[in-house]
Amino acid sequence: MTEPRTPITELATGRLDLLPLLVEHAEEMADVLSDPDLHTFIGGAPETPDGLRDRYRRMVAGAPDPAVTWCNWVLRLRDEACLVGTVQATIGPSPEGRKAEIAWVVGTRWQGRGFAKEAATALTAWLEAQPIDVIVAHVHPDHQASAAVAAACGLTPTDRTQDGETRWERTLDRRHSG
Ligand SMILES: CC(C)(COP(=O)(O)OP(=O)(O)OC[C@H]1O[C@@H](n2cnc3c(N)ncnc32)[C@H](O)[C@@H]1OP(=O)(O)O)[C@@H](O)C(=O)NCCC(=O)NCCS
Repeated sequence: MTEPRTPITELATGRLDLLPLLVEHAEEMADVLSDPDLHTFIGGAPETPDGLRDRYRRMVAGAPDPAVTWCNWVLRLRDEACLVGTVQATIGPSPEGRKAEIAWVVGTRWQGRGFAKEAATALTAWLEAQPIDVIVAHVHPDHQASAAVAAACGLTPTDRTQDGETRWERTLDRRHSG
C-alpha cells in the first residue's frame, strides 16, 4: 500500500532553523552555493539565481511519482538571520521497505562549524518519527567531512557503491507501525 506523502515541517536546533524550501530562497542560496569547490563531490556547478529559482520551483512542485516525497529544507543561522546550506530527504518505496535518501550541503564560508552535523542529526531525528524503514546516504569515499556527518546520524558504511560513492545506511525499528 502506498504511504501518504509526508508533510514537511519547520525544525529547530540550537543554532539553526530548518525551513521548508521555498522558491523565494533561491536568490540568497545562489550566493551561499556559489563556490565551485562545493561541487567537487556532488557534481554540477554553481547556478545563477534564475537557474536555482527554476530548480527550486521543480523541487517545490514535488516528485512526479506520487509514491515519492521530496523533502527539502534550507538552513537559517538564527543569530545572523542568513541562510547557510540545505538538507534533504527523498522518501519512497524500495526493496528494503520505505527508504529516506538524505543529503546535505553547507556553503563554504560556513563550513567547519558543525552546522552540517547539527542539521543532519535534526533531519534524522525527524525521520525517526516517520514511517520509514531505512535511511540511506551516498558518500564519496574521499569525503571525510560527509562521512563524519553520516556517522553522526547513526548511519554506517556498507560495501555497496553507486556511481563511485559508498552507500551508508541505518535500519529503523518501525515501532510506530504497531
Ligand atoms: C559535507 C559538508 C556538508 C560538511 O559541512 P560542515 O558544516 O563543514 O560539517 P561539520 O562542521 O558539521 O563537520 C562534520 C564533520 O566533518 C569534519 N570535517 C569538516 N571539514 C573537514 C575536512 N575538510 N576534512 C575532514 N573532516 C572535516 C568535522 O571535523 C566534523 O567531524 P567531527 O565532529 O568528528 O570533528 C560540506 O563539506 C559540504 O557541503 N560539502 C559539499 C557538498 C557535499 O559534498 N555534500 C555531501 C552530499 S551527501
